[in-house]
This record gives sequence, structure tokens and C-alpha cells, in this order.
Amino acid sequence: MSKKYYIETLGCAMNVRDSEHMIAELTLKEGYEAADSLEEADLILINTCSVREKPVHKLFSEIGQFGKRKKDGAKIGVCGCTASHLGEEIIKRAPVVDFVLGARNVSKITEVLHRPKAVEVDMDYDESGYAFGEFRTSLYKAYINISIGCDKQCSFCIVPHTRGEEISIPADLILKEVQKAAGSGAKEIFLLGQNVNNYGRRFSGEHPRIGFTQLLRAVSEIEEVERIRFSSPHPLHMDDEFLDEFAKNPKICKSMHMPLQSGSSRILKSMKRGYTKEWFLERAAKIRELVPDVSISTDIIVGFPGESDEDFEDTMDVVEKVRFEQIFSFKYSPRPMTPAKDFEKQVPEEIASKRLTRLQARHNEMLDEMKSVRLDRVYDVYFEELRPGGYVAGRTDNNWLVQAKGSEELLGKTVRVKIVEASRLGSIGEVIA
Ligand code: SAH
Ligand code: F3S
Repeated sequence: MSKKYYIETLGCAMNVRDSEHMIAELTLKEGYEAADSLEEADLILINTCSVREKPVHKLFSEIGQFGKRKKDGAKIGVCGCTASHLGEEIIKRAPVVDFVLGARNVSKITEVLHRPKAVEVDMDYDESGYAFGEFRTSLYKAYINISIGCDKQCSFCIVPHTRGEEISIPADLILKEVQKAAGSGAKEIFLLGQNVNNYGRRFSGEHPRIGFTQLLRAVSEIEEVERIRFSSPHPLHMDDEFLDEFAKNPKICKSMHMPLQSGSSRILKSMKRGYTKEWFLERAAKIRELVPDVSISTDIIVGFPGESDEDFEDTMDVVEKVRFEQIFSFKYSPRPMTPAKDFEKQVPEEIASKRLTRLQARHNEMLDEMKSVRLDRVYDVYFEELRPGGYVAGRTDNNWLVQAKGSEELLGKTVRVKIVEASRLGSIGEVIA
């Protein structure tokens, strides 16, 4: 009987892709299959996130529970960003853990599996040229990494310490993966990196120096590719050439993630983001001018050390002016190894909470206003998922979530859909052709 794995993936899309890579390695090299439940698994993997403190706390209670539920002899491995930054401390605090595998070392999964109490968290390890096997959670959408690590050193962010320095994956490897995925039905390609539009700055060997804009063009030239998305770009690297390509290339989906973090130029400087409030507003306005139907999403941190009422008003001002279609907002969480955790004037919890509530409430009002724009309009929706009650779900080019009555035959197809009901979080549509 084959061995079975159970995997829990926390955090960002890059972790989702790392999990797929680990599953591919386990399946191809060790003959593993997916378990239906944790209790049935021979190997339990937790792919962790450490961007904020809360999930790290939760990890240890979860390991405890998993330890009780697992069958005798089953192994537990802790992988990902928390594995990178806590390393062997994880095994010290939770001896039930069999191995620890950092976010920059996932290709070693089949090796650590056989080494009791292995801890692989080498921050200089270079996986940019590693050819992982094929495994995809979705048949219709393919996540493809274009770089590893991040060189930005934003003062609040632990990622450069858990994923290491930024190295671009050679374009020929990326294009080969795109070709394979699109050829087997994943018509939507999602390019991933911590800082995608910095692509091409550093490779680990001799490779043609192409930048992100050229990479986008090359991906779009692959015939089977219908839609291209990417995450996350950095506002600082949103030059005119990139924005023009974004606007003109019909295969590039018209939704842009622009992580603002703060609207105050003073706070942005202390965050080391490299742009000002004015730069951000100008770039966002340029995107809306070039692509009137674009959706712009963002990440915002409230309560960063030193954030005054006035600084927060600057953030609210940017929110008013840009009218983001989606906001991921967080209270600042002090992280180990980051300069900001030692900054003076840490903002009290109650103030940060109030600011977060106000930001989210105002944004919800804006979404309520925006939703009417969608009503009765017809969009091209690429359906990717079955939903309960005889529905399928998919997204418009500009990233609105749409559900419609339908079944499997709509999956992997782009269909004209008229929106009949619109809410803040998604819409209901009727297939019209
Ligand atoms: N390169 C990615 C960032 C990954 S972290 C990107 O640009 O999207 C994802 C988001 O988590 C960040 O954009 C930021 O808004 C948030 N974040 C990172 N560190 C944080 C911290 N210490 N406290 C609160 N939020 C944080
Ligand atoms: Fe983090 Fe800034 Fe990089 S938010 S992932 S250090 S761009």
C-alpha cells in the first residue's frame, strides 16, 4: 500500500506553490498519495507563514493537536517561513516534530524525510534552477514561480530573513513550465514572486538578462495561454514601460496589486518602501487612465511605529483617492530580525485596532458604492471551481469573483456572463452564451 501525505498550507500564494512542489517531489520520488484525513496520513506537513505573530503562536498548539491525532509512526514536518526563522527551536519546543524544512529548501523534502530530526534552513541555498516535478492543485490555473527571496528589506518585514536574497529563475525554465501547464489546460498563468517587477536583476548563473516586462511579453506569446496574472509587484518598480505593457497586452488581466503599506510619506520612509505618497498616487492614477476598467488591490499596515493620527489620515486620503477594489489590511505586528520592532513610539494596540476598524468600515462603504457598477453588465468569466448547489465560480479579467449556475463543462472555459446580483464580496451572474 502506498504511503500517504497530509499537508496544511498557511499564508501566501507562494506557500501554495511550495506545497505543490513538495507534493510533486513526494509523489514522483517516494510514491506518496494524498490522504483523506490527518489520521490516515504517514506524513503530516505544516507549511507555515511568519509574516505576522499570530500564526506563529498558533503553530505550536496545532503541532500539539496533530501529535495527538496522528497514527502511530506517522511523521510531522514543519516547513516554510516559520521553519526558516525558528529552525531547531521548533524541535526543542515540540519534540513530536520529526524535521524542519525552511522556505528556501523545499526541494530537499524527500531527503529530510529520511533523516531523523533534520533541520534544513540554509539561507544561502539556491533553488532558482531546480526542476521540480509537476503537481497542480487546480487544473485550470497554474502558479509559476519567477523568483525566490526578496532583496527589499522593508523595515517591518521578516520575509527577506525567511526566504533569503532575491534570485530570478531563468526565463527558459519559466517558459517551459508555462508551456507545459497551459498545454495541459491551465489557461490562466499566475506568475509569483515577492517582488515580481524586479525580475531579472540577478540570476545565479549566466542567463539572458530580460526584465519583467519582457518576460510578460514572452509568456503571452505562448498560444495556449489565455490569461496572465502576477503577484506581487512593487509600486517603486512600476515604470512606464511596465504599465504600457500591462495596459496593451490583451492576455494580461486588468487587475493590479499595488501594496501601499502606508499613505504617509514619512512612514513610508521609515518603512524603507522607496516611494512617497505622491509617487503612489501618480502611478495609481496613471494605471486608471491607461486602463479605465482596472481593479486595483492593496496591502495596508496600520499602527506602524511612529504612526500619528495625521499619518493615518494620509493613508485614509490615499484610500479615498485611489478607491481600491480590494484592501488587505493588517495591524502592524513586530517581527524578529526586523529593524521596526526596535523603533521608538510603538503604537498602542487600542489605537491600531480603532484605525483598522475605521479603515475597513470606510472601505466597505466604498465597496457598496462600487458594486452597482457591475450590475447588468456583461463580463468574460473564466470558470475554475465547482461550488455547492450547482454553481461554478470564476473571475472576470479584472478579478471580480462571479458565481453562476452551471456544472463541470464550464470549468476551464471563458464565458460571457451577465451580472444579476452584486455584493461586496462577489457577484451572481447568468451565462448568456
Ligand atoms: N512582497 C509581498 C509582501 C509579502 S508580506 C508583497 O509585496 O505583497 C504580505 C503583506 O503582509 C505585506 O504587503 C504587508 O502588508 C503585510 N506585512 C508584512 N509584514 C508585516 C508586519 N510585520 N505586520 C503586519 N503586516 C505585515
Ligand atoms: Fe517584504 Fe518588502 Fe519584500 S514587504 S517581501 S521586504 S518587498
